[in-house]
Order: sequence, then C-alpha cells, then structure tokens
Amino acid sequence: MRVTLFGASGLLGQDLVRAAHDNGDDLTALSSKDADLRDRQRVGEVIRDSRPDWIILSAAYADVDGCESNRDLAFAVNRDGAVNVAEAAREARSRLLFISTDYVFDGTKASPYETGDARNPAGVYGESKARAEERLLEILPDICIVRTSWLFGHGGKCFPATILKVASIRPEISVVNDQRGSPTFTADLASVLVQLCHLSAHGIVHANNSGNCTWYDFAVEIVRESGLATMVKPVTTAEFPRPAKRPAYSVLSPASLNNYNIHMPTWQNALRRYLEKTPPASAR
Ligand SMILES: NC(=O)c1ccc[n+]([C@@H]2O[C@H](COP(=O)([O-])OP(=O)(O)OC[C@H]3O[C@@H](n4cnc5c(N)ncnc54)[C@H](OP(=O)(O)O)[C@@H]3O)[C@@H](O)[C@H]2O)c1
Repeated sequence: MRVTLFGASGLLGQDLVRAAHDNGDDLTALSSKDADLRDRQRVGEVIRDSRPDWIILSAAYADVDGCESNRDLAFAVNRDGAVNVAEAAREARSRLLFISTDYVFDGTKASPYETGDARNPAGVYGESKARAEERLLEILPDICIVRTSWLFGHGGKCFPATILKVASIRPEISVVNDQRGSPTFTADLASVLVQLCHLSAHGIVHANNSGNCTWYDFAVEIVRESGLATMVKPVTTAEFPRPAKRPAYSVLSPASLNNYNIHMPTWQNALRRYLEKTPPASAR
C-alpha cells in the first residue's frame, strides 16, 4: 500500500512511520518543512507526486492552549489546511484518514461519546477540528475520521513524561481530578490506524486505549508504576485555570472500532509498556 503521511515528525507521526514500515507499506513521510498544510499548491504537488492509496493526516496545530490565543492559525492549519489535503486527495483519487479529537465534544455527557453524538467543542482547538470534520465529510464522503484522546508516547512532550520529570524533583504534585478521558499510547494507536487503512475503513471511528480515568488517576498510576515516593494531590480545574476550557468528560465509546474487530489494550497496560522503554528521569 502507498501511504503519504502529513505530521510525520509529531508525537503520533513518529509511531505512524514505524507502524507503516513494520507493515511493509511504501511510505512518504512529511513534516511541515516538506509541505505546510496552508500551502495549497505544495500540498497538491506532494500528493500528485507520491500517488498514495491512503493519505494519513496527523499534522495539526495541536497546542490546545496556544490555539486560544492564535485562533486564526488554528483555523488556517486545522480546518483550511485539512481542506487543502482533502481537495488534493479527491483529485488524486486517494483515500484520506483524518486524525481528530475527543475535544470536539463539550464533555457534558455522563456515558461514552458515540460517533454520531453532536459536536459542541468547548475551545478553539476543538472548534477548528470540528469544523474540519464537517468540511471534510462534504468533500470526501468516503473519508475515515479517527477521533482519539490524551496521547502519550516517546515521540515528544506528553503527560507521563511531564509527571516523571516533576515527580523526580518534588515531594508532592497537584493534578486535576475532574476531567475524565482515555489515555492513549501512540504506538498502539499508530498500528490501529494502519490496520484501518488496510481494512478500507470509512466514516467516523473512535480509537483509544480502553478504560478511562482522570488526570489525577493517570498521574497516580505513573508515579506508582515508576516506584517514586511522590505524593499526588487531587485538585479541581477551577484551582488550576488554563487558557482553554477542556471537556470534563470525553470518554469515547469503542463500539465503532469494535465493528472492525479491533480491541485496544487498557491504558494501564499501555502505560506499563511506555514506562518499560522510558529511561528514569535521572538518566534523561
Ligand atoms: N496530543 C494529543 O493528546 C491529541 C489528542 C487527540 C487528537 N490529537 C490529534 O492527533 C494528531 C497528532 O497529534 P500530535 O500530538 O502527534 O501532534 P504534534 O506532536 O504537535 O505534531 C504535530 C505535527 O504536525 C505538523 N505540523 C504542524 N503544523 C503544520 C503545518 N502548518 N503544516 C504541516 N505540518 C504541520 C508538525 O510538523 P513540524 O514538526 O515540522 O512542525 C508535526 O509533525 C493531531 O491531528 C491532533 O490534533 C492529539
């Protein structure tokens, strides 16, 4: 299979490069230096040149707080840039897999979000992704949109890496206990995304490690599994205000993924595998 990947240098992108290689796919891996999503002509050129069966669009302006103060950039990259890719995909007759987010939801539900639930994002990042989803579905009715959540992995900054760093130097850390979601290991997600392409998936699919927790629960597990003595204190979002409002509950139902007979491991299992390959803070 010929695959063209936008966002190859990112947290998820680096594992997608590995997963595609492991699978024997013929991959064209692009970062923003190879093709900026905002450059319609360049995007068209790289897609025409690589003639992919599938395009995986992992590239995004994914800084949730940064998007709040850079609304124009968020929409230029996340919505209009994605539209550039979709239009080029339509012209080249390539399939498109677009990575989206649990933050398209407002978090007011008390049971897992299904793929058909209404989008109602709480912040600019989620809004730019939600508007992208709507435009892409119009341009490419057979698109596959994969929503995922709370990514962690070895390819860049992520929550467990931050907790390990802070916990190694402080006796106590405070972590919010009123936002619930599903942590997702990029290595697990990447192999699922490649599988979905091979299964010719279409429509909206929710993909994340199974189970759910709060950021506090996640931090407790990271500290415990790493054998650190740091105390983790639960706090509220109100005590830790951030520029972007985040959904209080953004657990995604696995039903759409299970329809492809794919079942992802629990987030605790994924975390253990992540930690096994993470050097202790003192060695970093
Ligand atoms: N991180 C999460 O917790 C999370 C949760 C749900 C969904 N997602 C989604 O998952 C996907 C991957 O996220 P991530 O955490 O891996 O992101 P990331 O680490 O921030 O990586 C972003 C990638 O996008 C590229 N990029 C940024 N602006 C670009 C532009 N204007 N033109 C072309 N490429 C551009 C970057 O290239 P350079 O390195 O060259 O800048 C990089 O390869 C995104 O679509 C994100 O919205 C993430």
